[in-house]
Amino acid sequence: MRMVDLIIKKKRGEELSCEELNYIIAGYCAGDVEEYQMSAFMMAVCFRGMTRAETAHLTEAMLHSGAKADLSSIAGVKVDKHSTGGVGDTTTLVVAPLVAACGGVVAKMSGRGLGHTGGTLDKLESIPGVRVERSVAELREIVERIGVCVIGQSADLVPADRRMYALRDVTGTVDSVPLIASSIMSKKLAAGTDAILLDVKVGSGAFSKTMDSALELARTMVGIGKRLNRRTVAVITDMSQPLGMAVGNGLEVLDAVKVLRGEIGRGDLLYEICMLLARHMLLLGGVAETEAEAARKLERALESGEGLRRLKLMVEALGGDAAYIDHPERLVRTRRRLEVTARRSGYVETLDALKIGAASSMLGAGRARKGDAIDHSVGIELHKRVGDPVASGEPLMTLLINDEARLDEALALADAAYSVGAEPVAAPAMVRAVIDDDETEAAI
Ligand code: URA
Repeated sequence: MRMVDLIIKKKRGEELSCEELNYIIAGYCAGDVEEYQMSAFMMAVCFRGMTRAETAHLTEAMLHSGAKADLSSIAGVKVDKHSTGGVGDTTTLVVAPLVAACGGVVAKMSGRGLGHTGGTLDKLESIPGVRVERSVAELREIVERIGVCVIGQSADLVPADRRMYALRDVTGTVDSVPLIASSIMSKKLAAGTDAILLDVKVGSGAFSKTMDSALELARTMVGIGKRLNRRTVAVITDMSQPLGMAVGNGLEVLDAVKVLRGEIGRGDLLYEICMLLARHMLLLGGVAETEAEAARKLERALESGEGLRRLKLMVEALGGDAAYIDHPERLVRTRRRLEVTARRSGYVETLDALKIGAASSMLGAGRARKGDAIDHSVGIELHKRVGDPVASGEPLMTLLINDEARLDEALALADAAYSVGAEPVAAPAMVRAVIDDDETEAAI
């Protein structure tokens, strides 16, 4: 077999066999396939796509490129949850402890924010003392003790993805369903849980800009999970506007605590999505038989404060100062707060998630490149959502600022995220579909 022939085969749109895909990934990891050949191959995949079978074989080849976490010693069905990335999406910090409080077992490896999207690890690290770079043995020990743990992706899992993702970033080959699906699922499968809940985002702030591509991504990933004997469900949720009303690391911890304390509740989008995800995790974990039973358990865990207690235990287990969970407002003290008000009365027509995420990142909450330092306390508080009435002069958002170097740029971007029109606007549906096998979907 020669790599050049396989690149040409994909360029012609032909289907590659399992052996051929194994050859590509093994060769790449061994240094026999050059970076420029891998780039050409991935560009061919971007243009020609892959069949579901090819994507599954590619995922398996990537999965076997490194170590796999063994969580089998932990009792119970271990459930993971993954979001394809969004803005103001702090659901993990609510859902993981809440599911544990209901008797579920949550073992999760999360990522960092990049570009306009946030990452759970950065949010956790806004709490002084938290250290997320942990071994699988530490993950096992913490999950056995308190039922929940979120750590960073272990470096020895899926080395093929680490290199391929870095290459995709600089060769314009990120936005391909087979490449995204295999990248996400190889890591989820290597992380060793029994069941996986996928939150596939759709809209301006997401990888999938259209419902068609989100459905294709969700179905492909669910198909891969099933093929490899993991219970997998995907929900497709809106990311045309930010999910929560706070965007930034400490700000999103604050919002998560508010949900767990019952201060953000029924009717709020963040609350509703958290409960939807948590219900599915309880069903996947076998902790509840029906959605109604799952909902009852979650309500009890919220009312009793057990969800909040599990978050504090997890923060402590990761070395953090849990006093910040009692006083999360201490995480968001900045030198300056700048309110942006509406210039006209009417209804919020758009609140662009991509622009808000990028503006928050520019204030220092995110990074342009892997490894950049971030400021955990800055970000943007939103006061209005799509569909909300607004009066001229009323606050639309507040920027939390420390460094003013890129403030003008961030302000212009955040300002452009909002548009206010004269006519009432319907809020976008937050949940678009639930997919629990690769062909069917339950529309919401
Ligand atoms: N997240 C990943 O892990 N991989 C992708 O390709 C896209 C999002």
